[in-house]
Amino acid sequence: MRILVTGGTGMVGSAFKKINTSHKIILVGSKDYDLTNPRHAKKMVMNIRPDAVIHLAAKVGGVKGNSDYVADFYSQNARINLNVLDTCHDEGVKKVVSLLSTCIYPDKVEYPLNPSQIHSGEPHPSNFGYAYAKRMLDIHSRALRAQYGRNYVTAVPNNMYGLNDSYDLNNGHVIPAVIRKIWESKLSQAPAVFWGNGRTLREFSFAPDIARILLWMVDNYDDPEPLNIGNTGEISISNIVQKVRSIMNHKGGIEWDISMPAGQFKKPSDNSKFLALSPGFKYTDIDSGLKQVCTWFMEKYPNVRGN
Ligand SMILES: NC(=O)c1ccc[n+]([C@@H]2O[C@H](COP(=O)([O-])OP(=O)(O)OC[C@H]3O[C@@H](n4cnc5c(N)ncnc54)[C@H](OP(=O)(O)O)[C@@H]3O)[C@@H](O)[C@H]2O)c1
Repeated sequence: MRILVTGGTGMVGSAFKKINTSHKIILVGSKDYDLTNPRHAKKMVMNIRPDAVIHLAAKVGGVKGNSDYVADFYSQNARINLNVLDTCHDEGVKKVVSLLSTCIYPDKVEYPLNPSQIHSGEPHPSNFGYAYAKRMLDIHSRALRAQYGRNYVTAVPNNMYGLNDSYDLNNGHVIPAVIRKIWESKLSQAPAVFWGNGRTLREFSFAPDIARILLWMVDNYDDPEPLNIGNTGEISISNIVQKVRSIMNHKGGIEWDISMPAGQFKKPSDNSKFLALSPGFKYTDIDSGLKQVCTWFMEKYPNVRGN
């Protein structure tokens, strides 16, 4: 099968390079095709003629970027998603697997997060633009299935980390921000300052695991319901800080800036459906994943994205 991966230059997209598969994987980024432009989306699908698309392309950011640029996050992601799904349908692409996020779940909700709750309340105010644009990927996929019989499915990962992440401190995610702050604190010997109070809880998945699951979904998952695919088990941000400090041998001071946003307190997810469908799948544990990412970062720094 020819599988086109949009967002192929990003953290999750680049993880496909190391996967052993009999499928032909074609990775594309925004320099190849700007998917906010419908003509580029059309050109991409007509040039590549994929049998399936794994749709990852998105304007992605952390809690501050999402709230400072909430309109851009909505508008750009809504356009990208409309263009990709409509073009895939128009050009007869048989399977599309689109990536959502646990950010799309309602703010006030019972835990653990289950896909039946996705549209049952407002998302957290810090990222409502991104969240609604992503929710519409679910609506659009199900609508194309209902009206035209398209086998377009969606997956919901939780927080991800991996090689080739963005280390932009104002608009990045928590793990890359922690890694960069600790490393720069070690180099400068100034204290590392983190946002929030450290008690916020998150679940983290290693990007190469998510890439493997998305490929599995191309072959094996045909349900209209979004599938939670993240590694479960909550970890506090202060625990992540301690793990990274230990890997990087950081002995300097640390401080918590409670004036900065920390996002939702917790959002544990339920991945039992995925595990039942794919028995034996083993997620990379956080210690091993963090070690790989920190080692990669220390070798690459300062030549990392978002610097
Ligand atoms: N990172 C997380 O923790 C997380 C959590 C949940 C869900 N997700 C979802 O997972 C997917 C992949 O995330 P990621 O962390 O790998 O993101 P990333 O590293 O920021 O990569 C984003 C990708 O999207 C592409 N892109 C952005 N704007 C585009 C445009 N206008 N036209 C075409 N391509 C465009 C980028 O291309 P260029 O680099 O070439 O510009 C890049 O390849 C996204 O859908 C994201 O919403 C991520």
